[in-house]
Formats: sequence, C-alpha cells, structure tokens
Amino acid sequence: MTEVKQKFDGYAAKYDEWFMKNDNLFTSELRLFKKALGDIEGKKLLSVGCGSGLFESYIDSSNIEGIEPSEDMGQIAVKRGVNVIKFGLIEDVDLPEAAYDIIYFNGSSSYMEDLVPVYEKSLRAIKDGGKLVLLDVPKESAFGFMYLLGKSLNTYDHEYLQGTMPELPYPLALASSGVWHSTEEKIEVLKSLGVTKFSFYQTLVKNPMYTNEEPEEVIEGYKSGGYVAIVAEK
Ligand SMILES: C[S@@+](CC[C@H](N)C(=O)[O-])C[C@H]1O[C@@H](n2cnc3c(N)ncnc32)[C@H](O)[C@@H]1O
Repeated sequence: MTEVKQKFDGYAAKYDEWFMKNDNLFTSELRLFKKALGDIEGKKLLSVGCGSGLFESYIDSSNIEGIEPSEDMGQIAVKRGVNVIKFGLIEDVDLPEAAYDIIYFNGSSSYMEDLVPVYEKSLRAIKDGGKLVLLDVPKESAFGFMYLLGKSLNTYDHEYLQGTMPELPYPLALASSGVWHSTEEKIEVLKSLGVTKFSFYQTLVKNPMYTNEEPEEVIEGYKSGGYVAIVAEK
C-alpha cells in the first residue's frame, strides 16, 4: 500500500486531548451519540472514520467494526476494542450488502468531499429496518462559521475573533482540512438516495465560547445545534 498522509495523522493525541480538556462539550456530544445510536444490544455496527475510538470507548464496542484512514488514530481505536476492518478510506472499501444494523459517521462526513457515493454504499450495506446515523458540526452553525472563518484567515488569533473564542478551540489544522457540509445538504443527498424516514437530534446549542461551561441536553431538531445527528431509516 502506498503511504498517503491522512488528514488526522499526527493529530491523534491532540484530538483526544481536545475532548478531554473540553470535557463538558464531550459529554454533550456523547449524549447525542448515544441517543442517535439508540439500543445497540445484539446489533452489528460499522463506524466509518472511527478515529481513535474515543466515543466507542464509552459504549459496548464488542460488535463495532471500524474503518479509519489514519494509522495513528486507528491504532488507538484497536486498543480501545474497535474491530478496525480497514485502515483506509471508505471510498476504497467494498462493503457487504445488508450486513449491518447501524452504520454511523461520527464527525467523518465533514472530511469527505463527495457524500453521494459513500452514503449510497453505506445504505446498501445496511439491513432493511436498519439505520444510517450522521453526526456532524453543521456548516451553518456557530461552530461551522468559526471553523470556516479560522480556515479562511488561517488563524483564530485575529482581531475579528477577539473575545469570541472558546478557551481551547478545535485544532486549526483540523478545522481547515474540514469539508463542512450543511445539514440540509446531507438530507438532500439522502433523499436522492431514496431515504424517506428521518429523525433529527442536536446539542451544543449555546455559542461556542460557552459550550464547555456545563453539559447540554439532547433536543430534537437540527436548526440550532453545533452538533447534529441525522438518523435515516432504511
Ligand atoms: C472528526 S474525526 C472523528 C473521529 C471519531 N469518529 C470520533 O468521533 O472521535 C473524523 C475522522 O474521519 C476520518 N476520515 C476522514 N476522511 C475519511 C474517509 N474518506 N473515509 C473514512 N474515514 C475518514 C478521519 O481520519 C478522522 O479519524
């Protein structure tokens, strides 16, 4: 295999450390993650872009397979109990048909250019009655704006952003390598692939500089949260 540097190579420690320092933000996202997955007992799951398996380490990961292009991140996920079936991109993987109860992308769609082929492939690999779960920072949220502004200025340390930033913002390199999508863009892609049944949940409703003050509850909908889950039924 040719050695390709992946966006998250070299950031595994920083990524986990960011969540550990932003512990209340992490708790809010973990609540959303658990709510969107629902009951996973006896179910077969696939985590696309499982990263370091941080979220999986807070649930029963014994039936969770993972796909992860970054060797650094994926090796930690293995240690945390995720069965990483492929160190590579979802685009390069052939998934078996109707094999999973739940396939989820926790923050990984935000690093993918073309969502159509990857969601299409995932829907094919889900059993009838199963679900595709997409969790992301929406492009149109306050977090999305902050990352896009940081990306275009190439710094968070700019007079435009003075007095508005969280104490420890998401690493700029990871914000800048993101391909931030809006929630409605993802919904449209799913509709074009035949999905008709959706549920939506959100958290991180406070402005970014206040989100780590205390954990937030999960609420229904997708129009105010800085972290949003789309649950698409097959
Ligand atoms: C924001 S991180 C989320 C990691 C993990 N799911 C979590 O929630 O902690 C995004 C992850 O998606 C992975 N990723 C990026 N592009 C990908 C692709 N085309 N196929 C699969 N995974 C990808 C990255 O390597 C990274 O680990």
